[in-house]
Amino acid sequence: MDASPIASLDDVRALRDRLDAEGRRLVFTNGVFDLLHAGHVRYLARARALGDALVVALNSDASVRSLKGPTRPLNPVEDRAEVLRGLRSVDAVVVFEGDRCTGAIHAIRPHVYAKGGDYTPDSLNREEKAALDAAGTAIHILELVPGRSTTATLGKLRATADGGAGAVRPKLAVLGSGKGSNFEALIAAIRTGAVDAEVVLVLSDNPEARILRLARDAGIPAVFVDPGPQANRLDDAAQKEIHDRLRSSGADLVVLAGFMKRLREPVLSAFPDLILNVHPSLLPAFPGREAWVQALAAGATETGCTVHLVDAGLDTGRALAQARVPILPGDDAEAVRARINAAEMDLYPRAIAAYAETIFSRNRA
Ligand code: GAR
Repeated sequence: MDASPIASLDDVRALRDRLDAEGRRLVFTNGVFDLLHAGHVRYLARARALGDALVVALNSDASVRSLKGPTRPLNPVEDRAEVLRGLRSVDAVVVFEGDRCTGAIHAIRPHVYAKGGDYTPDSLNREEKAALDAAGTAIHILELVPGRSTTATLGKLRATADGGAGAVRPKLAVLGSGKGSNFEALIAAIRTGAVDAEVVLVLSDNPEARILRLARDAGIPAVFVDPGPQANRLDDAAQKEIHDRLRSSGADLVVLAGFMKRLREPVLSAFPDLILNVHPSLLPAFPGREAWVQALAAGATETGCTVHLVDAGLDTGRALAQARVPILPGDDAEAVRARINAAEMDLYPRAIAAYAETIFSRNRA
């Protein structure tokens, strides 16, 4: 029996050269592969079918800790490699240190690179993409198997960790671009026990946002994600970074609190019906920016706020709760905005608590 399930780069390079001489192709993929599930097995079989042998580059334990936090991996690298080698589709496993497998790509020069569909060709890490281009490697993005992920498995374990008695506190990640009054209201509601949840991450596309300072003052991890070159849009790399940070935070629910950019893939699929937003109008009226200005300009005598699920549209997801406020004679935009904001600070924490309760009792059922 082999002493180790982990191959050396030299062995894999030799395998690649042998295949190359025979006109056959080596497929390469990389990942953590901590708790193997059916999604991994099907993904690896599809990757293997792209060529004639499959090598998996596995993040070292230190690399996993730096990417996913101190509690991961659950299984050490030798074990992860051994389980992978037990699969019919996997011909060799190598291990890489650091965040990127650029060194392994340079050394192996695979014919084909396979990656899961939470990436797009544009959101692949720039260094890894450059190494693949330099090696002349063909890139294939494979669709993920829906509903099968290590995060989902860990979520189910957390939800049953109390034996189903219901003592699990949902973990929230909050995204905001500005002053953070809704975040403050949420934190206050958590302190009083009105919301039984924990904020594990605050993320902003604006490095100056007050919400980041509030989070740091409250001892909550707070990160700025560079939105990319366009003023009103998150680029693919930013969407991917947000996705990765949300995933590694362990968040169960994502709460948008004044986050002024649209979320797209891969974030939306990673949190299906698990992203909430508060919008300052009675949706479907007045979606988009400065909804209170739109309401005044339309001559409305009433407006309000809506808590809704986030989908790919602009403020189009299913509404969960609304609160109404009057527009009074003589109101200017600032007065209307302040009245809506007060209503939001009351409504949003209650709506978050109610929705988290439905989700978690459903998971426990
Ligand atoms: C809130 O009024 C919220 O409804 C709005 O931004 C403000 C954020 O305030 N969000 C949107 O318009 C999203 N479409 P805050 O940073 O003080 O919570």
